[in-house]
Amino acid sequence: MTTSTVEIDEIVDGLSGEQKQISPKYFYDERGSQLFDDITELPEYYLTNTELGIMRDNIDEIVELVGKQASLIEFGSGSSLKTQILLEHTSELAVYVPVDISDEHLHASAEKIRARFPHVEVLPVVADFTKEFDLPTPMVMPIRNVVYFPGSTIGNFEHDMAMDLLRVMHHEAGKNGALLIGVDLQKDPAIIENAYNDSAGVTAEFNLNVLQHLNRDYGANFDVDGFSHSANYDAEKGRVVIELVSHADQKVELGDTEFDIADGEAILTEYSHKYTLDGFAEMARAAGFSVERVWTDANKLFSVQFLTRQ
Ligand code: AVJ
Repeated sequence: MTTSTVEIDEIVDGLSGEQKQISPKYFYDERGSQLFDDITELPEYYLTNTELGIMRDNIDEIVELVGKQASLIEFGSGSSLKTQILLEHTSELAVYVPVDISDEHLHASAEKIRARFPHVEVLPVVADFTKEFDLPTPMVMPIRNVVYFPGSTIGNFEHDMAMDLLRVMHHEAGKNGALLIGVDLQKDPAIIENAYNDSAGVTAEFNLNVLQHLNRDYGANFDVDGFSHSANYDAEKGRVVIELVSHADQKVELGDTEFDIADGEAILTEYSHKYTLDGFAEMARAAGFSVERVWTDANKLFSVQFLTRQ
């Protein structure tokens, strides 16, 4: 575990505003990553299974579009089943470049990938992928770069930040580059709300774990039992609002700072944006991409999209 004063300042900042918030990146300590893996197997959480199905059903066409001797640059550490399906089928990949802010996470999953795909060069990059970073030089010269961003992680970002991130992906894709991205779609609100309010309570545990993480690693003293999980879909804004709601007036300390949290007050922990195909295409266009191909499941729950640089 490493904590930086930059992170502590960021957390304190988030808890100091009118709307208290904690960035969703703090979900993913060891326990949180395990709980997220558990979420992906819940019957209500349609995202992962649907995306996997779309990848499996269309893998030949996906691989054809990626092309031969590409550099596959995954935003996120990527030991997922989706990545493995892609690596299994892409022929003569020049190099696989997983990019993640967590050194530990990244190297563990890079080792897993190397063991499974010994013929693929794996060059992990430790970087905050919301900002431009330098790409490593592979042994084989890539014909083109293809950025891979699965899981609808783009949904965590509000519009302006999502645009910034698309622009970074546009930059890293380079000339002739492309972006293969998983994007969750707007649909019956009940389906969406169920996905974030599962009957086994795993999502609630995942959400509450962020407080445990801040207690364990950042010296906070949240009374975790004093909060409950809340997830509501705002259909107008097309996003799930995930919060922790306090049951009582309480005081919390983090370092030298004390926060008052009122009974009924909510701490925002995550947005999960859902898109229309037109809405996403417009954002992609504004970031310099054109949508070349969209694959969806039969129920149009989720989309996998192949974008090229204009
Ligand atoms: C990893 C951001 C795509 O928004 O569905 C799952 C995270 N949060 N359940 C999502 C999440 C609660 C997930 N993303």
